[in-house]
Amino acid sequence: MDISKVGVVGCGLMGSGIAEVAAKSGFDVRVREVNDDFLEAGRKRIRKSLDRAVEKEKLSAEERDAAWDRLSFTTEVSDLADRDIVIEAIVEELEAKNALFGALDELCGEGTIFASNTSSLAITDMAAATSRRDRFVGLHFFNPVPVMKLVEVVRTIATSDETFDRAFAFAKAVGKAPVAAKDNSGFIVNLLLVPYMLDAIRQLDRGVASIADIDTAMTLGCGYPMGPFTLCDFVGIDTLYKISEIMYDEYREERYAPPPLLRRIVSMGRYGRKSGQGFYDWSGEKPVPLEI
Ligand code: CAA
Ligand code: NAD
Repeated sequence: MDISKVGVVGCGLMGSGIAEVAAKSGFDVRVREVNDDFLEAGRKRIRKSLDRAVEKEKLSAEERDAAWDRLSFTTEVSDLADRDIVIEAIVEELEAKNALFGALDELCGEGTIFASNTSSLAITDMAAATSRRDRFVGLHFFNPVPVMKLVEVVRTIATSDETFDRAFAFAKAVGKAPVAAKDNSGFIVNLLLVPYMLDAIRQLDRGVASIADIDTAMTLGCGYPMGPFTLCDFVGIDTLYKISEIMYDEYREERYAPPPLLRRIVSMGRYGRKSGQGFYDWSGEKPVPLEI
């Protein structure tokens, strides 16, 4: 493995998980957030997850401390200049991602691979905004990153074999099971999973059943680990809305269109578990379905 220094941009749900698994796997990891408050929140999230792994006896206290020591935190993009790979996990907006990759392109060395964890944007559209189109891939991790084994490794028509192989090897080195995917919006999983979540919202809007009953039906009827509304809250309602808009814009197929109810929930600032409310209220010990 010729990658040792990893940069992670964005320390929300996904960035914190990616930074954690990379640090646990022995990489030197530097995390960048937009300001000190977000950085501190991300730092706490990683620490809590590492402590939880120790409590569950998945990690020894020594391993946790070693992983923690391999992590550093910054608000400066320039602190990522020496990284071998930079993985972006910021908001699902092409403009924001391209502004970031443009800045990184000026700062990082020739050999640095750029990777995006985007759920729905085309990797090609980000690679095209840089001068390293051959050294650009998608590395799509799944939520929660410490638990989910899959990583979709996405190549564009310009990604070199060497870059793809290095990124694939990196995904394996952080303990994941990588699969190769073409650069189409939604790759493999979200092409199937996003319409499923959106259909559940349409079903609710039509009054087919309650939030709790639809979730129970899919867990007990199909053996899914969580129902679609718990999953929406888990992914983030704001993120799901952006993903849906991007996929609808790409395919112009109704099944990707954001249901009006989804937009209304976003307007109310209910972003799911991370904000305390979504389809459920997450403030208590157990999630409570909200009147919608
Ligand atoms: N960090 C670390 N470990 C976690 C965790 C987290 N955030 N959440 C749960 N775990 C671990 C627990 O420690 C536990 O481990 P042990 O069994 O070894 O003790 C294990 O996961 C199971 O956890 P729980 O018993 O607390 O809860 P659960 O059985 O309900 O499992 C779950 C939780 C793993 C999240 C499970 O419900 C699940 O698999 N849900 C589906 C997740 C999913 O579909 N993810 C994909 C989202 S879509 C996406 O990511 C793509 C995109 O672009 C939007
Ligand atoms: P999030 O809202 O939890 O976190 C995003 C973080 O990025 C925030 O903390 C924000 O402050 C930070 N940020 C924004 N602009 C930044 C910049 N220029 N530099 C540094 N930090 C910046 O979102 P998330 O759920 O972690 O999603 C991040 C990315 O991962 C998105 O592209 C999303 O589509 C993708 N993704 C999400 C999931 C999921 O289930 N939530 C799964 C796979 C992939």
